[in-house]
Amino acid sequence: MRDTIYMDNAATSWPKAPGVAEAMAALLAHGSGSPGRSGHALSLQASRAVFACRSQLAELIGASDAARVVFTANATHALNMAIFGLLVPGDHCITTSMEHNAVIRPLRELSRRGVELTVLPCTGDGKLEATAVQQAIKSNTKLVVLTHASNVCGTLMPIADVAAITREANVLLLVDAAQTAGALPIAVESLGIDLLAAPGHKSLLGPTGTGFLYVRAGVEIVPIIYGGTGSFSELSEMPAILPDRLESGTLNAVGIVGLSRALSYLAAHGVDTIRAHEVSLAAQLRSRIASIPGVTLYGNGQGASIVAFNIGSMGSTEVAHILDASFGIAVRAGLHCAPLAHETLGTLGQGIVRLSPGPFSTIKEIDEVAEAIERIAEERV
Ligand code: ALA
Repeated sequence: MRDTIYMDNAATSWPKAPGVAEAMAALLAHGSGSPGRSGHALSLQASRAVFACRSQLAELIGASDAARVVFTANATHALNMAIFGLLVPGDHCITTSMEHNAVIRPLRELSRRGVELTVLPCTGDGKLEATAVQQAIKSNTKLVVLTHASNVCGTLMPIADVAAITREANVLLLVDAAQTAGALPIAVESLGIDLLAAPGHKSLLGPTGTGFLYVRAGVEIVPIIYGGTGSFSELSEMPAILPDRLESGTLNAVGIVGLSRALSYLAAHGVDTIRAHEVSLAAQLRSRIASIPGVTLYGNGQGASIVAFNIGSMGSTEVAHILDASFGIAVRAGLHCAPLAHETLGTLGQGIVRLSPGPFSTIKEIDEVAEAIERIAEERV
């Protein structure tokens, strides 16, 4: 059996950047102290590695102060940290119908506790009009939460336009960059993004168990987790400074070392170069399968490296199963943890088959995927 053709980079990237596995294995094999906890050589080495990765992330997202980058376990953790740490009963929050459950579920929980919530509808291809945000802002609006790109269909949100609106209105903007960090250039300070959440294991090409939250200077977040930070140990309250205030408990040094290696790879190759490769592959895949009778495509094809489709009325999970079992092609199907987005796209019943090429995908693989979809459609439509 030939190697799997991996088209599920939107769920988690594979392969990881060269050297990630080796860097992590070396740490486990040769020892690592707890970062920021002790004064011995291994602990200092781990602290330096964590500091290096924090600095790399700050540079990647255009943040001038690396201390404002807080490590988390994943993007969901980062989003929860920001959402629960900012909103109190009586506050108003605006979000969209294209958000992932990592945004919708915390916000629904908070709306049960007295936070007012507006979910802005998006168009049938997942687009948001920035002016809708402007019109929804009220005197008690504290936060706008917006995905940078839909995890279901890839459509990009107008974050620059929304950032201009929120800045003018003195409202905070939290961007969910789960599908874009490492895949599209993003500059938090110049765009005016107050908070940005991202995973380390998707387009940053690092391991699972890593992620981060960027918090603009001046934005106060109440911690959702309390505990030891290795600093200010005489205090029974959490330290006031970042990142310590939001980083209780031993950090995932092994994962962070892997992420750091991946960030070095991204810096050496350039996000723009990787983006150009992914855009080209996704566009070729989209155009190939657009011409297959019975195929419906979703999204506008201009965002994240995602090609979302269905074949006739076939269930998306059945298509995914055939792609996997008969052709060795790994994709995601079903509802992608984003039911409101599926409602918006009209795919709540059928779900969507999602192809997501990555930096290491090839044109040969794209051809094979398109041919497999052609064959399934020929037999079933
Ligand atoms: N949120 C991830 C996805 O879209 C896991 O697949």
